[in-house]
Amino acid sequence: MQAKRNILVSAALPNANGPIHIGHMLEHIQTDIWVRFQKMAGNRCTFVCADDTHGTATMLKAEQLGVTPETLIGRVKQEHERDLNGFQVEYDNFYTTHSEENKKFAEQIYLRLQKNNMIFTKEVEQLFDPEKQLFLADRFIVGTCPRCKTPGQYGDNCEACAATYDATDLLDATSVLSGTKPVLAGSEHYFFDLPQFSEMLKQWTTSGTLQPEVSNKLAEWLDSGLKPWDISRDAPYFGFLIPGTRDKYFYVWMDAPIGYMASFQAYCDTRNDINFDDYWKPDSEFEVHHFIGKDIINFHALFWPAVLEGSGYRKPSRIHTHGFITVDGTKMSKSRGTYITAETYLDHLDPEYLRYYYAAKSNSGMEDIDINLDDFVQRVNSDLVGKVVNIASRCAGFINKGFANQLSSTIHDEKLWKESVASSDMIFNFYEAGEYSKAVREITRLADNANQYIAHHEPWKLAKDTTQQQAVQDVCTMGINLFKQIMIYLKPILPEIAHKTELFLGVKSFVWADSTCFLGAIEINRFEALIQRMDKKIVNQMVAASVESTDKNIAQTGTRDSSDNGEPTYSEKDHTANTIDIGDFSKVELKVAKIIAAELVHGADKLLCLTLDVGDHERKVFSGIRSAYQPQELVGKLTVVVANLTPRKMRFGISEGMILAAGSDEEGVFLISPDEGAAPGMVVC
Ligand code: MSP
Ligand code: ZN
Repeated sequence: MQAKRNILVSAALPNANGPIHIGHMLEHIQTDIWVRFQKMAGNRCTFVCADDTHGTATMLKAEQLGVTPETLIGRVKQEHERDLNGFQVEYDNFYTTHSEENKKFAEQIYLRLQKNNMIFTKEVEQLFDPEKQLFLADRFIVGTCPRCKTPGQYGDNCEACAATYDATDLLDATSVLSGTKPVLAGSEHYFFDLPQFSEMLKQWTTSGTLQPEVSNKLAEWLDSGLKPWDISRDAPYFGFLIPGTRDKYFYVWMDAPIGYMASFQAYCDTRNDINFDDYWKPDSEFEVHHFIGKDIINFHALFWPAVLEGSGYRKPSRIHTHGFITVDGTKMSKSRGTYITAETYLDHLDPEYLRYYYAAKSNSGMEDIDINLDDFVQRVNSDLVGKVVNIASRCAGFINKGFANQLSSTIHDEKLWKESVASSDMIFNFYEAGEYSKAVREITRLADNANQYIAHHEPWKLAKDTTQQQAVQDVCTMGINLFKQIMIYLKPILPEIAHKTELFLGVKSFVWADSTCFLGAIEINRFEALIQRMDKKIVNQMVAASVESTDKNIAQTGTRDSSDNGEPTYSEKDHTANTIDIGDFSKVELKVAKIIAAELVHGADKLLCLTLDVGDHERKVFSGIRSAYQPQELVGKLTVVVANLTPRKMRFGISEGMILAAGSDEEGVFLISPDEGAAPGMVVC
């Protein structure tokens, strides 16, 4: 028997400026499975996360919504927690990086690094938006690519020719925030002296803490030499002030991983059986595991261990890196409806379908994982419903009806039982190693064996023969035990179905060791359906509900969406999936709007930026009607706006609604206008 381990686990902190989507869910589900498995195995495992709240993006989004950043992050946290709970992800603490604990740790760590001569300052020249009065991060600058001359490229790389460059190299750079031309300005920045840690990192990154492919990737960076890391940002910035300064803030990536510690500290503060220092002291025997996506490796496997080492804390035991989710072979796309938020998913489908599918596709590598929507339905229906749950439904009725819920006391097929017990260690090791697809494959093989066993003994035939009643009870008892064992093996993946199974059998919460126990001569409960078959129609409805319109009939944006590769939209492929009922329609708030200003949008030749009076406050909407209207001819016109659309961040600013127009670029674009006399703010119905 292995000694009990003490393990702290984190999933990467989701950004607090947008919803959780099914891409994020891959990580939360993978991590939750690992944690549930550790808990079932008898280890002390604590699972923490938090919202990553700081940075320019949060600040600007709050400003656009007309709320404080604190209000925004409070709202988003509630939504994130709701969605994560909805997917049965069970955190011991889901916190926020905008907390007292995090401030305390960030300051303490910084001051220790400073004391150890690992911090220095340097003057940095950067593009500055004179109107907004702020320094611009690369994604807030657009301009023409210096190499291929494609307009509308971001400040770090060109999507047309893949060139990488500095924002200052862009031709006609424009601030996305104000549309003005940025100017170069200098300011003092604070740097963490990462190169001091090169040798430590070379050793640490190859010591079994990382997957081999991650170590190899890092070796390229380590061999070409590390650079100091810029950890400060100038005011205005939503974050923590750097001690000893008046207008310098910690860069969000400085305090974000510290958020793991802060969330854990807050958890420890509510309990008296767990101690922060036991986990974080430099020589700790306890384990710290981070689960992350492949896009944030450098922050976790270079900066983070160096910061920890430099400030006298332990380094992570292991970093588990996963790939990205694609849907039907391509990046999630808003126009195709495959950018599916957790909320939309949960409005349509059972969370355990996705938990099962992600597990069935996850291994310990970091390749991308594709959700093929047909395969998703097929796999859930054939394996989970058809094979696993089927075992119980084939046997339970006989025990419930024919034997007054009593299981027999005999193991009808000793050999088969021993074989299934023997898989326990193998499946255990697959979970430990993050090889969930292999665990699922082995469990499915056991389910096949169980179904074959039942088909071979045909209890439904035996039941008709009065001399064979004992055999019916024995076979069905055997079937139910095989099912119970399979559900123990699947419990980390399917906690809800496992719980329903516990209720059905009238037993305590399953732990791993229960997989080898045979339940005989006990009374069980009535069998209730455990999960429904999946319906492709509902999947189609979910996709339709996720389509964010770039529809030709509604001239909203006309801009390129970075999650969109311009292929036909889902609605063009399958119109039947796109019908909505009156309830859906009534959610859309259409209002009369008066156009009070209209301007060209620099760098977007299809767009106009309209300022609308919708009766309450003024709002800005980007609309793809430039080909049909000169800005000045629109001023004073009435039109109809979708007033309750979630504000949408576009590369030129935030669009707070959508105006209606008919036609397309080819046919001509015609603004929808109510008759004279309608007043701004009137409801259109
Ligand atoms: N806030 C940072 C993490 C800070 S950790 C100290 C961040 N946030 S994020 O919201 O952009 O992403 C959170 C996690 O979700 C990351 O691990 C990221 O790799 C993962 N994913 C985001 N989109 C994803 C997919 N499409 N597919 C799989 N994982 C994805 O990064
Ligand atoms: Zn280019």
